[in-house]
Amino acid sequence: MRDMLDLNSAAAAGKPAAAGKVSIRNVSKIYDPEGARVVALDNFSVDFAPGDFLAIVGPSGCGKSTLLNILAGFDTLTSGEVYLDDKLLASVDRPLAPGPDRVVVFQQGALFPWKTVLDNVTYGLMKQGRTPRAEAEARGIEMLKASGGLDRIAKSFPSQLSSGMQRRVEIIRALINDPKVLLLDEPFRAMDTVNKVTMHRHLLDIFRISQKTIMFITHDLEEALFLADRVIVMTTRPGTVKLDIKVDLPRPRTREMMASDAYIALKERTVMAVREEAQKAFERGEKEMA
Ligand SMILES: Nc1ncnc2c1ncn2[C@@H]1O[C@H](COP(=O)(O)OP(=O)(O)OP(=O)(O)O)[C@@H](O)[C@H]1O
Ligand SMILES: [Mg+2]
Repeated sequence: MRDMLDLNSAAAAGKPAAAGKVSIRNVSKIYDPEGARVVALDNFSVDFAPGDFLAIVGPSGCGKSTLLNILAGFDTLTSGEVYLDDKLLASVDRPLAPGPDRVVVFQQGALFPWKTVLDNVTYGLMKQGRTPRAEAEARGIEMLKASGGLDRIAKSFPSQLSSGMQRRVEIIRALINDPKVLLLDEPFRAMDTVNKVTMHRHLLDIFRISQKTIMFITHDLEEALFLADRVIVMTTRPGTVKLDIKVDLPRPRTREMMASDAYIALKERTVMAVREEAQKAFERGEKEMA
């Protein structure tokens, strides 16, 4: 994996070490304000340092994807601000467009089925039009190779790959543009446990070597605790921060750590908090049905 140090070497050379600091300040989001008025987020604030791995968990419908979409520039906010490296990124007066500094990987595959793995990986660079094809391809091959020898599938098409392989290619495609922040919305949700464990290993390797700031949304509390430096538990809708848990397990993380007292204590706190919120959501649903 050493050569993954070259993951973004060209860009990293001129980059300040502290890139990828995110401040989300008092962000609220109301969908359909003149009609149904769905308050998805309410005064949500969180800061994460460059190179933080932040996991966000919370009951279904609490606003996790809304938050991620606001950061990605796919959605607007109703009030509050988002800063990236101390520069205003989004506010009511400053709607945000998607940009190469924040890239997203979703649960559903988003590779172009008609393009090879290599063409998918180099797509962003080619689209920007600043990198000659040969250079883009060389960088793509290098990154595929560094990510567990995926250069061997460079000429394959997505349909020929397992969902885990597809997800890994997507993450590489996201990283080739040297983003400041990697946004992941339940990327492994549809996978079975065995595949998930493999994906966790690959993602932690990528995190260790690329040192990107990561925001990772998941329903899986064990996954959140295993991967992240911090786990934010959101309240039921309107989503705000209920708990901000520091995961002080050493890195590299191992599966054995999941049997440690420290891990079990963290898990209990997280499970209790999410359960409490899920119960509130359930009770509200019952009331609305009555
Ligand atoms: N475009 C929209 N218009 C109206 N309401 C919306 C829209 N998008 C999301 N919502 C509502 O906002 C709330 C938050 O949705 P969001 O998708 O952010 O939740 P989530 O936490 O990601 O849920 P899940 O865990 O199921 O993915 C939900 O009640 C949802 O129905
Ligand atoms: Mg969601």
